[in-house]
Amino acid sequence: MSINDDIAKQRRRAYGPWAVVTGASDGIGRALALALADQGFNLVLAARRATALHELAAQLATRGVMTSVVAVDLSTPKGCHALAAATEDHDVGLLIAAAGFGTSGPFMTVNADSEAEMLAVNCGAVLSLTHVFARRFATRGRGGIIMMGSLLAFQGVPGAATYAATKAFVQTLGEGLHREFKPAGVDVLVAAPGPVKTGFAARAHLNMGFALSPDVLPEPILAALGRRITVRPGWLSWLLEAAFLGQSRGLRSLILSRVMAGMTQHQRGVT
Ligand SMILES: NC(=O)c1ccc[n+]([C@@H]2O[C@H](COP(=O)([O-])OP(=O)(O)OC[C@H]3O[C@@H](n4cnc5c(N)ncnc54)[C@H](OP(=O)(O)O)[C@@H]3O)[C@@H](O)[C@H]2O)c1
Repeated sequence: MSINDDIAKQRRRAYGPWAVVTGASDGIGRALALALADQGFNLVLAARRATALHELAAQLATRGVMTSVVAVDLSTPKGCHALAAATEDHDVGLLIAAAGFGTSGPFMTVNADSEAEMLAVNCGAVLSLTHVFARRFATRGRGGIIMMGSLLAFQGVPGAATYAATKAFVQTLGEGLHREFKPAGVDVLVAAPGPVKTGFAARAHLNMGFALSPDVLPEPILAALGRRITVRPGWLSWLLEAAFLGQSRGLRSLILSRVMAGMTQHQRGVT
C-alpha cells in the first residue's frame, strides 16, 4: 500500500509514535498493523498466538519498524491488565481494538461458555482497554481509538444473535465516547465492515462466500479517524449498508436471518 508521506506524517503527529493493535496475529488487525508500519508507526502487537506475532514482528523489523510483542488472552481481565502494564513505558497514541471473534448457529444449541468468552473479548476487552488508553491519551492531550464493529451491529441477527449483540455494544459505546472524548483530544471511530476474508469465518463456522480482502480495509479506516463516528470500510461494506438504507430493523433482521441460514447450511448437513 502506498500512502502520501504528508498523510503518514500527519497521522504519526496525531496518533504516534506507538500504536497498540489487538488481534494483530491475523486478519483485519494484522492488515492494520502492516499499514501502520508502512506509515512509520512503532507497534505493540497483541493477540494469543505468540508465534504469529513474532513472525510479524520479524517481518516488520526488516523494514526498520520497532515492535513489542504481547501474547495475551484478552478474554480475561488478567490479559487486559497485562497488555495495559506492558505498554506503560511506550508513548502510545493509538489503540486499535481489533481482537474479536464470532459464533453462529441456533442460540439454544450454541455453547454458552463460548458465547460468554465472545462477550469478554468483543466487549469486555474493548471496554477495559478503552478505559486505560483513553485516560493516557487525555493526559497527553491527543490520541485515537479504533473499535471493530460490524454491519451486523445495526439489528438483531437470528443465527448470530450474541455476536450481533456484542457488535451493537461496540457501536453504541463508540458513538457515545466519540462525542464525550472530543474535548480531551481523543478521537474514537467504529469500523463496521461487511464480510472480510480472514480467520473469522472458520472460527465462527460460517461459509462466507464473497468477502473483501482485509488489505483494502486499513486505508478507509485510518482516513476516517478524527473525521467520522462510524466507517463502513471497503466497497462491499458500503454497498450492503446502502442496500439496507431506509429499511426497518425488523426487515433487516429478517433478511439477515436468511443470509445466516445460507452461511450455516453446512452445519445442518445441507450441501
Ligand atoms: N471478517 C469479517 O467478516 C468481519 C466483519 C465485521 C467485523 N469483523 C470484526 O473484525 C475483528 C477482527 O476479526 P478478523 O476478521 O480479522 O478475524 P481473525 O482473522 O480471526 O482475527 C481475529 C484476531 O483476534 C484475535 N483474538 C481472538 N480471540 C482473542 C483473545 N481471546 N485474546 C486475544 N486476541 C484474540 C486473534 O488472535 P489469536 O487467535 O492469536 O488470539 C486474531 O488476531 C473482530 O472484532 C471481528 O468481529 C470481522
